This record gives sequence, structure tokens and C-alpha cells, in this order.
Amino acid sequence: MWLHVLGVVAWVGGLAYQTHVLGPAARRGGAGVFAEAARRGRPTAWTAIAVVALTGFYNVTRLGPLERVMESGAGLLLAGKFVLVLAAVTLAAQRDFALVPRLGRALAEGQDPAHALRRIAWLDRLVLLFAVAIVYLGVAVSRA
Ligand code: HEM
Repeated sequence: MWLHVLGVVAWVGGLAYQTHVLGPAARRGGAGVFAEAARRGRPTAWTAIAVVALTGFYNVTRLGPLERVMESGAGLLLAGKFVLVLAAVTLAAQRDFALVPRLGRALAEGQDPAHALRRIAWLDRLVLLFAVAIVYLGVAVSRA
């Protein structure tokens, strides 16, 4: 659980910093620094995501007998959480492996980075929104 929460902090904290601190700075003319930070942040983010997923599945094995998990409502909460995690990870992959490289190419070719920055900002907000719901469901599963 400790590793699970540490992974969550590293992933969501890094994303929140990029979205709310580096993103606004990028839109005021610091796109190069943002593109570099987003590129360099990828190994940390994806290591954290892998740790969260692996420890999450381990946590599932520690929840106890299946009947009790279903009776307490934890099973349903966990199913909802899993769907949101899949959606968040898919969006994060689109951001990191499609849009961040596109931003890098736009900058290298001297094009206006505004469009790529805007799309990254929207994806980041969506992933953060999903993360808020996922954290709520995670705590609800623990308390069920
Ligand atoms: C494959 C993905 C995941 C699985 C299978 C999973 C599974 C679990 C399980 C089973 C628990 C309850 C453990 C227990 O009470 O013994 C838990 C707790 C938790 N999870 Fe996840 N999780 C996953 C991803 C995530 C993600 C992406 C986040 C956040 C963005 C997250 C945040 C939390 C939180 C905050 C808790 C509660 C910690 C506490 O109450 O002390 N989990 N997770």
C-alpha cells in the first residue's frame, strides 16, 4: 500500500506540477522548457504508473475472500476504479507518446507550438480529473 500511494504521489504530483506551473509558463513563451520537462518527466511518470499498477494488483490479492469483497461493495468500487484507471492511462499515453513528440517537432521546425500545447493542457486536465475520482474510489475500497 505504501508503494502504491508513493507511486500515485509521484505520477499525479508530477502531472499537476506540469499542468499548473510549467503549462501556464509555456503558453507565455516558455514552450521549449515545457517540451524538455515533459520529455524528461516521461521515465519517472511511466515508472510510477507501472509501480501503481503492479502494487494495485497485489493489493487486490490482499483484500480477502471474494464473497466479503462483493458483499461490502468493494468489488463494484474496484471495477469502477479500474475502468477510470484504464481511461487515464490511455490519455496519459496519448499525451506522452504522441503529443509531446509532436510539440518537440513543431518547435524544431519553427512552427507555432500553441496548438500542441493547448491539446496537452486539455489532456492533462482530464487525466487529473480522472485521478481525483480514482483516489476517491481507492480510499473507498480501503474503507469498505
Ligand atoms: C491497475 C490499477 C490499480 C489497481 C488494481 C488498484 C487497486 C487498489 C486496491 C485493491 C486498493 C485497496 C487496498 C486495501 O485496502 O487493502 C487500492 C487503494 C488505493 N489506490 Fe489503487 N489501484 C490501482 C491504481 C490506482 C491509481 C491509478 C490511483 C491514483 C491515481 C490509486 C489510488 C489509490 C488510493 C489513494 C488508495 C487508498 C489508500 C488508502 O486508503 O490508504 N490506485 N488500490
